[in-house]
Amino acid sequence: MNIAMIGSGYVGLVAAACLAEIGHNVICVDNDARKIEALSAGSEVIHEEFLPELLARHRGRRLKFTTSLHHAVRPSEIVFIAVGTPPCESGEADVSFIENVCRDIAAEINGHGPKTLVVKSTVPAGTSDWIRSVLVRNGVPASNFELASNPEFLREGSAVTDFLYPDRIVIGSSSATGTELLRRAYLPLTSGSYHGCVSRVPQPDDSCSPAKLIVTKPATAEMIKHASNAFLAMKVSFINAVANVCEAVGADVEELVQGMGSDRRIGTRFLKAGIGYGGSCFPKDVSALRAVAEDRGCDFQLLDEVMRINENQRKAFLHRVRDALGNLKGKRLAVLGLAFKGGTDDVRESPAIALVQSLLHEGCTIQAYDPAAMERAREEFAPNGKITFASSAYETARNADALLVLTDWEEFLTLDFARIRSLLRQPILFDGRNLYNPDRMQDLGYFYFSVGRREIAPLQAKAAEASSEDAA
Ligand SMILES: NC(=O)c1ccc[n+]([C@@H]2O[C@H](COP(=O)([O-])OP(=O)(O)OC[C@H]3O[C@@H](n4cnc5c(N)ncnc54)[C@H](O)[C@@H]3O)[C@@H](O)[C@H]2O)c1
Repeated sequence: MNIAMIGSGYVGLVAAACLAEIGHNVICVDNDARKIEALSAGSEVIHEEFLPELLARHRGRRLKFTTSLHHAVRPSEIVFIAVGTPPCESGEADVSFIENVCRDIAAEINGHGPKTLVVKSTVPAGTSDWIRSVLVRNGVPASNFELASNPEFLREGSAVTDFLYPDRIVIGSSSATGTELLRRAYLPLTSGSYHGCVSRVPQPDDSCSPAKLIVTKPATAEMIKHASNAFLAMKVSFINAVANVCEAVGADVEELVQGMGSDRRIGTRFLKAGIGYGGSCFPKDVSALRAVAEDRGCDFQLLDEVMRINENQRKAFLHRVRDALGNLKGKRLAVLGLAFKGGTDDVRESPAIALVQSLLHEGCTIQAYDPAAMERAREEFAPNGKITFASSAYETARNADALLVLTDWEEFLTLDFARIRSLLRQPILFDGRNLYNPDRMQDLGYFYFSVGRREIAPLQAKAAEASSEDAA
């Protein structure tokens, strides 16, 4: 099939590369000329596993890049919209990028046969109806287009395998033609034929194949996406609130999660205590769903609480660092991780960035390292010498007063913490993602602070403390 993908960001680019991988001809559009130039030249514009391989395989053949909506839309049967829907100050989703794209598409549709427009961006319930009216207002006869909602559930860090081996594909459409076209577009995934290909991207162990297809109304499809993200954010805030109680009563949140999660109705996924959720989706989608509920007069204060807990979690972590170090002014801190989560270079709404901003504000100097996000993170800070970027995790630790781990990168799990200890001025480790075993950190001689677990002091320090208590 001939497909246009409008918006070549984290979602559009991955979706386009994967649609090319399953056999379609895809033209990717973006109004960021530099991005299109870089993509056409084969440069990496986002960090995502397997994406470079797919781009190399299909670029110039089944996958093309352009800044011209005209060139992309005219030959395409399906036009996906994957532009951003950032939050407005009120918390509502800003759908103005979608509106702009629809106006541009309207100018291209007329006289070129019916097109199926598919909204992949995350949008509030009711957006499909509104898009219909935007197109009609811009002179497109209703008989000239079909509309469908096809929300995307990929996660940054595993976006390619999430797209190719999804838990479900959701199609929301009130038109049989639009639904049928999308069914055909996804057939290699829903029939499992792609998963039998020799050259397929390797299937993750815990993934489904073939993919489940859910066909519903547009408003339901739009709600499925918002409700899914809000639910996952709620799980994170729930376990963070539980972690705080664990600390207060001397329980261990990680062991608690094993106990709780063994109940198959609950499971352990997304019950990870830490410094809270971030990224370009959860924060905005929770507040967008809250705004939809409020607009329709529905009580959904639960979501206010989810947001409040998330914000407090960061503050509590900052408080812990301040408390343990006495004061922050003049402290030299090493930070591991700037991306909002491991596996991506995305720093939008990253809790790590917010914490580093607060630490800088309190007079610390920061030396930071992230395996993929340093380029993007650099743009978040004023170039005043208060933050420097190191070339490795070990370089970051050199002469620092303490080490803070703020992103759950897999490579941070296997660091040589004996070596890091020898580089630090003081063996103090704040683990904002509960990545390490407290006993092991104690054996290595660390003062170790994590979330929802007991504070650890090195054995020698404990012995000294006990003998001074005895003497007193
Ligand atoms: N990032 C994720 O993990 C993720 C996952 C699922 C769903 N989503 C949703 O998908 C949508 C896109 O998210 P993203 O992270 O890819 O955003 P992004 O900011 O990475 O990409 C959006 C792209 O659209 C381009 N664009 C904006 N206006 C345009 C126009 N008029 N014409 C052509 N291009 C235009 C921008 O230049 C940008 O490259 C959002 O609604 C988001 O909520 C994101």
